[in-house]
Amino acid sequence: MDDHGPPNSLSRRDAARVFHPYAAAARVDLDGPMVIARGEGIYIYDEDGKDYIESLAVLGAVSLGFGNKRLAAAAARQIETLSFYHTFQTKTNPPVVALAERLLAIAPPPMAKVFFTSSGSEANDTAIKLIWFYNNALGRPAKKKILSRHGAYHGVTIATASLNGLPANHRGFDLPLPGFLHADCPHHYRLGRESESEAAFAARMADELEQLILREGPETIAAMFFEPVMGAGGMIFPPADYCRRVEAILRQYDILLVDDEVICGFGRTGRMWGAETYGLRPDIVTIGKALSSGYMPIAGLMVSDALHDVVRRHVETLGVWGHGYTYSGHPVAAAVANETLAIYAETDILAHVRRIAPVLQAGIARFADHPHIADVGGVGLMASFELVSDKRTRKPFDAGLAVGPHLRANALRHGLIVRAIGDRIGFTPPLVIDEAGIAEMFRRFARALADTTDWLSQSR
Ligand SMILES: Cc1ncc(COP(=O)(O)O)c(C=O)c1O
Repeated sequence: MDDHGPPNSLSRRDAARVFHPYAAAARVDLDGPMVIARGEGIYIYDEDGKDYIESLAVLGAVSLGFGNKRLAAAAARQIETLSFYHTFQTKTNPPVVALAERLLAIAPPPMAKVFFTSSGSEANDTAIKLIWFYNNALGRPAKKKILSRHGAYHGVTIATASLNGLPANHRGFDLPLPGFLHADCPHHYRLGRESESEAAFAARMADELEQLILREGPETIAAMFFEPVMGAGGMIFPPADYCRRVEAILRQYDILLVDDEVICGFGRTGRMWGAETYGLRPDIVTIGKALSSGYMPIAGLMVSDALHDVVRRHVETLGVWGHGYTYSGHPVAAAVANETLAIYAETDILAHVRRIAPVLQAGIARFADHPHIADVGGVGLMASFELVSDKRTRKPFDAGLAVGPHLRANALRHGLIVRAIGDRIGFTPPLVIDEAGIAEMFRRFARALADTTDWLSQSR
């Protein structure tokens, strides 16, 4: 018998009718979904009023925390002024113009244009179409294959799920599509050879990428999609020098670099862009999530002048760039994004992140002595580690034990939302978190960890 409330509870009504993303339907039926009723600052509250710290800022989106009154007012003002209009053909609206200007003013390398979407998946999907269009315009119809990496996450449309290097996005969906290639994941802890230094590992990864390109034929490869820090694949931080080496190879073979900043953008890594933290000069930058602090579904891509110019000339011969979403440049979403970027600038969010990041990193580092915690690391307000059975041999836990999900469930009981990707645990708290918030987050986490360690010792 399940225990998720009386027949008319929200949880039961949901389980009966809502088709949940990323869920095991049977699990939803059994446990009933957790009803999140409201949020304030770094806290969310369930329908019984119990509080939880959102240590991943709702999938990395809610950078300014919950209940920001300025963002609410910006949305309300825009709904009253112009609730919706499209930006097809020659239509535009004031918030979208202002947002494009703001974004281009802070783009990592200079960019020429911004295309708006509602989600990161649509942004990356648009980038793939744009790149194919670009190579057709240049008369290189064979240069279409797209590279990404095992462990990558770029979305869930048919094409972006093909970019992903995660089996769950492929199994049962007849994916990946042909022409999507996956290089190795730069995870030194798991894939480094015995006594291989990070630098040697980075060089080997770059070398293997080059071999893959040469095997396939550089004339057939159009672009590589690249998250500066791999998020959904386990929050994996690239070894020093890896990004620079990869970019050099891409340049050598005339392969475009698409920098997916959907997670890393807007200060998460301590600079405005992951590309700045890791020294990348992309041709296309995709953005989302923290663009509106998650308050409105808005995302997009910024495109270099060189690329846009080729596309523009090809459009002239074809008559139209036959791509666009009803909600590309939605004025309400754009108004909220403008206000979000204004708050980042006025509050100097980057300075705050740089000041508070060492507190997060020191907090997580304190768990490095734990007998089952390894590969502790991070950058800016991103930090992760791996739960392992044996630290000396790096032996993972038996997957059937589901140690990570167990820890996540214990954290929930102690009022903490944490991310468990298998046995990798990650923290990406709202950017506005302060010292007290971080201390409380790790207090709650320590309790969940203690429960998990007890359970582990009992189950042995
Ligand atoms: C790096 C990255 N790119 C793209 C996406 C897809 O964004 P969305 O879920 O808004 O479609 C995500 C989502 O988590 C992401 O982490």
